[in-house]
Amino acid sequence: MAEFKQAPAGATAGEKLLTWVDNRFPASKLYKEHLSEYYAPKNFNFWYFFGSLALLVLVIQIVTGIFLVMNYKPDAALAFASVEYIMRDVPWGWLVRYMHSTGASAFFVVVYLHMYRGLIYGSYRTPRELVWIFGCLIFLCLMAEAFMGYLLPWGQMSYWGAQVIINLFAAIPFVGPDLAILIRGDYVVGDATLNRFFSLHVIAVPLVLLGLVVAHIIALHEVGSNNPDGVEIKEKKDAQGRPLDGIPFHPYYSVHDLMGVGGFLMIFTAVIFFAPEFGGYFLEYNNFIPADPFKTPTHIAPVWYFTPFYSMLRATNDQMVNVLAALIGLAAVMNLLKGKGTGQAKLVGLVVSVVVIALLKTFEAKFWGVAVMGGAVVILAGLPWFDNSPVKSIRYRPSWHKIIYGIFVVNFVILGYLGVKPPSDIGNLVSQIGTLLYFGFFVLMPWWSRLGTFKPVPDRVTFTPH
Ligand code: HEM
Repeated sequence: MAEFKQAPAGATAGEKLLTWVDNRFPASKLYKEHLSEYYAPKNFNFWYFFGSLALLVLVIQIVTGIFLVMNYKPDAALAFASVEYIMRDVPWGWLVRYMHSTGASAFFVVVYLHMYRGLIYGSYRTPRELVWIFGCLIFLCLMAEAFMGYLLPWGQMSYWGAQVIINLFAAIPFVGPDLAILIRGDYVVGDATLNRFFSLHVIAVPLVLLGLVVAHIIALHEVGSNNPDGVEIKEKKDAQGRPLDGIPFHPYYSVHDLMGVGGFLMIFTAVIFFAPEFGGYFLEYNNFIPADPFKTPTHIAPVWYFTPFYSMLRATNDQMVNVLAALIGLAAVMNLLKGKGTGQAKLVGLVVSVVVIALLKTFEAKFWGVAVMGGAVVILAGLPWFDNSPVKSIRYRPSWHKIIYGIFVVNFVILGYLGVKPPSDIGNLVSQIGTLLYFGFFVLMPWWSRLGTFKPVPDRVTFTPH
């Protein structure tokens, strides 16, 4: 058994209690490691608010979720009315519900900005690959959580949105039809679907999400935070082994993050009180009509945060599959003629391309749409290995890299916009180009990321006291 420490002579009751706890649970050790002696770079900027804000929204969602469950009925015959009951009759129910529905959108706003920060400052690169991968898994869980939560009010969009997305799984070769039945628990979306989505939304996915967030932060604290300069602060330490450019997280960043929380809450509450439906983007108008399995709405669109991926799904038709096959064929021929690899490697490349083209033409376009939509999320996890740039942060990259990042963002927003709109010929063409640009950004990154003239990275972070 470890030696018990003694509280110093003259210690207060509080200090004695802490010593008692510390002898049984590493409270002070955890506090020091993760707060008062966790040294974070002193040059954090606006973009570093979003990690703590994501934590805040996670807490808001869990707490409001607990209160919603007290009055919500997971039953196809009662669900819609129980949400209306929460909105009209439960004291403060409207606030709890609007906090939860606005929280879902706020979660994605915050997480998209958080991911964008990782992208521009190269925060996914060595040694933070696992921080990034845990982040990607969190993003996947978040999507599953939002999708299942959206079915629960049992409105028209809940019902038909789930119907459309679950039917997509049926397009997966061999296992698809059985998989779709397994997800629904029935041949159509119904009470069984509502019950399993409720169970997964309320307990299973949040548990996984919490575990992943803990892993995300433990991994980050193991290697230390990156910063807008992409300089590793652990490389320059003082005599006590503290990074020269680091400041204790608490009190400096705990206070800094509180300012972010203040700003966030102003916007968050303004939306809740003045525009909770947010023009039909946060709560779709069709969802105020009870689910009717006999009446398909004319236009079914997912909530805004899914729409960039939904656009890519819709863009993947037969024409698009032909373009993809042609591009893969072209790449294989180029590699054969101009590639740097050995003859054997080129041959392997050619065989792989022929197999991929054959597969593309064998399965229906609908399946490839699903693969493209899933692939668009999964490909994010590869970033640490795609990026060959000699510097991490966008600050020291060639100016035209910034244009590439700009195009990537604008393209993502356009895809999102098109995903909300009903399909059209021109919209579809733009989505197809957008899908190619999205994947091109990642697939060609090993090549373009090392091109151009890079600026010298300073030894220490750039910081002006303010
Ligand atoms: C529930 C969702 C999430 C929570 C609560 C969360 C929380 C945090 C926190 C508290 C930090 C440290 C503060 C900061 O650097 O902003 C952080 C850092 C980081 N997160 Fe997340 N995160 C989430 C989702 C994600 C996602 C989806 C990704 C990427 C796919 C991601 C990637 C990163 C990276 C790369 C860092 C290190 C950034 C740096 O040091 O420059 N996170 N996260």
